[in-house]
Amino acid sequence: MMNKDKFTTQSFFDAKQTGKKITMLTAYDYSMAQIVDDSGIDSILVGDSLGMVMQGNKSTLKVTMEDMVYHSRCVSRGVHRALIVADLPFLSYQVNSEDAIRNAGRLIQEGSADAVKLEGGQRMVQTVQAVVNAQIPVMGHIGLTPQSINIMGGFKVQGKETAAAQKLIDDAMALEQAGVFSIVLEAVPEKLAQIITERVKVPTIGIGAGRYCDGQILVVNDVLGMYSDFTPKFVKKYADLKTSITKALNNYATEVQNGQFPEKKHTFKIDETVLEKLY
Ligand code: KIV
Repeated sequence: MMNKDKFTTQSFFDAKQTGKKITMLTAYDYSMAQIVDDSGIDSILVGDSLGMVMQGNKSTLKVTMEDMVYHSRCVSRGVHRALIVADLPFLSYQVNSEDAIRNAGRLIQEGSADAVKLEGGQRMVQTVQAVVNAQIPVMGHIGLTPQSINIMGGFKVQGKETAAAQKLIDDAMALEQAGVFSIVLEAVPEKLAQIITERVKVPTIGIGAGRYCDGQILVVNDVLGMYSDFTPKFVKKYADLKTSITKALNNYATEVQNGQFPEKKHTFKIDETVLEKLY
């Protein structure tokens, strides 16, 4: 039977303790959030990946605080159980800690999120501490961090060399010390993700980080086969909704064109006495 209790940041810690894997997916609107929540997924990320899958941009860099507040609010209306994490978008937390607290606060207050996520390791320690001190739970994100795409030179696997791998371990430990309740590991070698998962007490959530993380996250549009601009190797498609939707819409167009839709059962009646007066 599905557990109906609200998933909380404490549930993240409990899951790591008991070895129960944490399930996470993104969502960006009310209808999808409702489906994801009803499916029993533990946590929903209102990811700034919405810049790519919702807005059609090539990266996440154009996403604004207004976008994040809007989508977070839409998602929150569809969710009862899952813990909602909202991404702090590019430049909403990098300038200074006051910005970070204010913007994280907006995602909680106006967007009804339960927690925020921000990208970066050791360089973000002070910011994480400031936001956590303001009583806002923070999820870290290291490895491939899409907001650093212009520094990283593309969507590439991170931590393959000794120094880079050691830096990711240090980043994870620094984030844990700073007070994050969990850490996303994106596009890192499986064995490195395993080492990090063993070294930190907070749960790791993998995306392209292999089998040994404490949980997994994917972009819901990838999982459902609704986004085909770019599909990373780590994605598994559990449905091909793009094909199903295209077929359904072709059927609709054909039925409208040849008069099969609408049928009588889709129409509304008017009283004969009213009608007589119109002729
Ligand atoms: O924005 C996003 O969807 C993310 C996940 C891919 C981790 O950050």
